Amino acid sequence: MAFGLKRVVAAALIVLAACSPKERAETLPVGAFANAAPAALSLRELAWLHPSTDTLKILSSARHECVRPAENPDMQYLVDIGRLAFQSPMLFGGPAARGGLSCESCHQGGRDNPNFFLAGLSGEAGTADVTSALFSKVREDGVFNPVPIPSLVGIAGKATFGTQAPAASLSDFIENAVVDEFQGAPPPPVVVSGLSAYIAHLDETGCVAATTRTITADMRQAQRAIELVGEALARDDVAAADFLLVSAQGQLGQVHERFAGPGLKNQRRALERLSRNVAAIRTNLRAGDDASASLAAVMVGAKTIIGDLEQHRRQSLYDVETLRAALRAAGRNLGP
Ligand code: HEC
Repeated sequence: MAFGLKRVVAAALIVLAACSPKERAETLPVGAFANAAPAALSLRELAWLHPSTDTLKILSSARHECVRPAENPDMQYLVDIGRLAFQSPMLFGGPAARGGLSCESCHQGGRDNPNFFLAGLSGEAGTADVTSALFSKVREDGVFNPVPIPSLVGIAGKATFGTQAPAASLSDFIENAVVDEFQGAPPPPVVVSGLSAYIAHLDETGCVAATTRTITADMRQAQRAIELVGEALARDDVAAADFLLVSAQGQLGQVHERFAGPGLKNQRRALERLSRNVAAIRTNLRAGDDASASLAAVMVGAKTIIGDLEQHRRQSLYDVETLRAALRAAGRNLGP
């Protein structure tokens, strides 16, 4: 958008914002996700799905992603780190991280998210104000100016990235987004290059067919994160290893959320134990200890619990009927 035109639009939005009953972002208590789900059903995605969303369809579907394989193992390592980072709320600080928000929340499978809605941040569903005080003290421009969330598929060749605070390269945009926009600590360099590599490999030619969300596939993400820790250590990148361990814990947390039922205490305990063992590896690494034995043990641990988790699938929120009942009880829209 030309600068002049942008000023005119910004001025019009100030007038609109002043006249409209919509609240300015900072008048909302920071971190209060007004449309958050009732406590009984604490699937974090519910906090940013518009009330009209067919939640059953969205929450029972696997990520529908279009990513092409990398040209060589070094690039694949970066793409894999980026893919995990993209789904990791740990990248963000402030209210965004506390709310469980990640890149993936807005850019579903690397695309847009027509159902995204957070009070104070979104206008229409599928939009977000990336210059709002809810997420950024630095970026706040005093205007409620949500813009559509764009798809990131096939954008790598563009000359500039973003319209609100344009950047000349993908890695600049990402670094600014994480540090300014979402108040995160600067991520390890490999995470920024990983995110750039991942986005650069989002490609229509790599689309996978839509499938249902499964325990095994979600656990596979945690296992992949742990495997990558080994690769990071082989490259002497302890900061990346640490990030990957945190993101493995995040992935385990997502499985844990779906084992919320009263009869699933043992399954939750097993996941918590595994997560604690992952955390212990972080402590070991910080102390400079060798982590190969504990990494191998955690890999075995993850593999072992999948069978038991699968056996209890029916009671968990991975089961479409159980999920339907829980969503209905929480008063969420179940679609047609
Ligand atoms: C709250 C929702 C939200 C989150 C979370 C989010 N984005 Fe975005 N993203 C947007 C919006 C809205 C835009 C459009 C901004 C603009 O036009 O300036 C955008 C734009 C972008 C662009 C520029 C696209 C282009 O074609 O120019 C990139 C790249 C991007 N986001 C990557 C990321 C990454 C990586 C993360 C995680 C670190 C992330 N986004 C997290 C909403 C979000």
